[in-house]
Amino acid sequence: MEVITDIRSLRRRLKRQASIAFVPTMGSLHEGHLSLVRIAQQKAGCVVASIFVNRLQFAPTEDFDQYPRALADDCRLLKDGGVDIVFAPEEKALYPSPQEFMLEPPPIANTLEGEFRTGFFRGVATLVLKLFNIVQPQAAVFGKKDYQQLHIIRELVRQLNLPLDIVAGDTVRASDNLALSSRNRYLSNEERAKAVRLYQALSQIKQGIEAGNRNFHEMEEKAKESLRSYDWEVDYIAVRQRDTLASVQADDEDMVVLGAARLGKTRLIDNLEVAAGI
Ligand code: PAF
Repeated sequence: MEVITDIRSLRRRLKRQASIAFVPTMGSLHEGHLSLVRIAQQKAGCVVASIFVNRLQFAPTEDFDQYPRALADDCRLLKDGGVDIVFAPEEKALYPSPQEFMLEPPPIANTLEGEFRTGFFRGVATLVLKLFNIVQPQAAVFGKKDYQQLHIIRELVRQLNLPLDIVAGDTVRASDNLALSSRNRYLSNEERAKAVRLYQALSQIKQGIEAGNRNFHEMEEKAKESLRSYDWEVDYIAVRQRDTLASVQADDEDMVVLGAARLGKTRLIDNLEVAAGI
């Protein structure tokens, strides 16, 4: 496995590759990322993973400085996982001057995560487009854990006619069903024991819908109340159409329940797809 830190060397190295599958990450890797690598291996002869904590997608009040960085451990995991090339640029390589040219995502980016993380999707979309231009993959793999991000990147590719496939990887969960996330490292032992409640709240809504309940608002409010009673600060719990992330109608079939809430200082997100017709 090669670790490359500058754009010119990466481009030179990738010229030799017939097909490239790409896994963009912010590092601090876990089994969820490795599952994306395994999907990438099925898509192309050369797998490139990037590790870059993207300042553009963090609001000034967020955890850019604290975000866990573990390049040596990450490279070991990626090497064992069979990645061919790691692209791990310094900030100056990707942003040699202030990134003034920003990509404006569609209005859906101002809802859910976007309502609570101003500028987040502008930052993600701008970086992801730069990475796609640098790596020029035929396929790129993103986790469903960041469901809205996956949706917005699919729209980016579709609306800007980018020549690559976006492939989705399922969320990987701990044995108690907590979705794996780099930010789980922030949880104290006590918080970690409570963290599964977000999954449980979403699960309850999923079960309700699958049992025929269409009072979405009531189910969302009940889930919020329940989390608040266990000391969570809830940003949103929302049932949305799976393909558009628009509000749901009673006769919609493919839905997704999404949630974001804070436990102490740690903000967790999760989601569950619901097939209401089943
Ligand atoms: O999902 C992430 O880790 C990041 O948002 C991404 C896509 C690597 C962009 O920084």
